[in-house]
Amino acid sequence: MSELFASDINSGNIKTVGLATGSTPLDFYKYVREAQPDCKAITTVNLDEYVGLAADHDQSYSYFMHEHLFNDVAFAKHFLPDGLAKDSAAECARYDEVLAENPIDWQLLGIGGNGHIGFNEPGASFEGTTQRVQLTEETLAANARFFDSIEEVPTEAYSMGIGSILNSKKIVLLAFGEEKAAAIKAMIEGPMTNEVPATALQNHPNVTVFLDEAAASLLTK
Ligand code: F6R
Repeated sequence: MSELFASDINSGNIKTVGLATGSTPLDFYKYVREAQPDCKAITTVNLDEYVGLAADHDQSYSYFMHEHLFNDVAFAKHFLPDGLAKDSAAECARYDEVLAENPIDWQLLGIGGNGHIGFNEPGASFEGTTQRVQLTEETLAANARFFDSIEEVPTEAYSMGIGSILNSKKIVLLAFGEEKAAAIKAMIEGPMTNEVPATALQNHPNVTVFLDEAAASLLTK
């Protein structure tokens, strides 16, 4: 995975990388911090941000990215949705413009136990653009581990839509642990359905998936 990133970055063909937060990419970001590939010409766009958290809040995704990557590796520019935007529709339109101006060459994804990608929860349209979304109970419970209590987890987020994710030239999805096994099985072996947002990736021509044994444990093919 890390070698793939290094060789893709060194190819010089990548101008914009799409990034994810959460536990899954932590080792990958550690590798990038240590390997220090030349990212000075690369722009980053993140998948999502919690509604209501300022960029400098220690649970915001902006803070997460600075903490785990941006403070240590120089990039050209960073974009994330603004959790404090006053006008949600304008913020979604702004982020769609960011994505139109910075087409994603290489998109990193994790996956939710319910099959969400970004914060596109079950039922999300495969054509969706940036949206303000309601997080499901399952996602709130999963993300509560980062907060003092579940009540503190923001219930809404801005998220790139599935349509925007599918516009990426290349997608690299990581999943670790048995709590991801059912979602991974559905993503790879199940029918395409909005009920499992990650099944939208079946339609994408360039997806690479890295799994540990536990996440792959329900695969039969
Ligand atoms: C994060 C994101 C989410 C996570 C997913 C898995 O930016 O978009 O889709 O990738 O919730 O989270 P972890 O890695 O914490 O299991």
